[in-house]
Amino acid sequence: MVITEYEDGVRDNVRKARQAGKKVVLIPTMGALHEGHLSMVRLVAADESERERERTYVVMSVFVNPLQFGPGEDFAAYPRDLRRDAELARQEEVDLLFVPSAQEIYPPGSQTTVQVADLAAGLCGAARPGHFTGVATVVTKLLNIVQPDEAVFGQKDYQQFAVLERMVADLKLPLRLRLAPTVREPSGLALSSRNAYLNWEEKKQAAGIYASLRAAAELIGRGQRDAAAVADFLRGALERETRGRVEYAEVRQKKDLLPVAAISKSVVLLAAVFIGRTRLIDNLIVEV
Ligand code: PAF
Repeated sequence: MVITEYEDGVRDNVRKARQAGKKVVLIPTMGALHEGHLSMVRLVAADESERERERTYVVMSVFVNPLQFGPGEDFAAYPRDLRRDAELARQEEVDLLFVPSAQEIYPPGSQTTVQVADLAAGLCGAARPGHFTGVATVVTKLLNIVQPDEAVFGQKDYQQFAVLERMVADLKLPLRLRLAPTVREPSGLALSSRNAYLNWEEKKQAAGIYASLRAAAELIGRGQRDAAAVADFLRGALERETRGRVEYAEVRQKKDLLPVAAISKSVVLLAAVFIGRTRLIDNLIVEV
């Protein structure tokens, strides 16, 4: 595995991979790698024969992007362990690990950002103004540097995926985005680098997020089609099960995250909950 901090290092290695006829796949991360990230590498390998995997060049980026953190958020505290991340990436046979400095991504004088309008405004975007502009900007830069055929993102950040899909379509970027299923602890808790902030008791509370999402999905399964009633049920379940502060509990169209009144097509149940000082998000797709 090649490790580089530099844009030029990425471009050189990717060019060589292309000359060797390889398909290029990008997996952007903020590091503190866990099974969720590693499952994205395995997803790339899984649907390909061994021969195909050999013809695929996997680039993983590790960059804690300052632009997507608001004032008072956990940018400084965000877990960082590059040595461990590099070892895990090597074990998963990542070909190139890109670990840029903030200077490499945002050289002095930078003043251009990428903003997705409506999709980025609600849900997490309402509570974290500017967050998705930070995400869209850094992902655009990474896509421009790597120029992959595919990029993989985790389902836990479903709104992020929807925002990036919109951006890729709107800017006519020539690549395919892939959604990797959420990886969970046996308790149901979605894996997240931020779980490192939780103590033992809080982890038990946090497991209630998935239990509540499932209970709301079962309600739809039993025939409830009133989205507001499902959202109310979800909020109540989250409050009871997690004893945390519920930031949002919503039922949205799966396709574009627009609000829905009567559930007739596939929806996604989305929640953000503070467990102590830690803000956690999760979601569940319900195919109707
Ligand atoms: O999902 C993440 O880890 C980040 O938002 C991403 C996509 C790597 C951009 O910084």
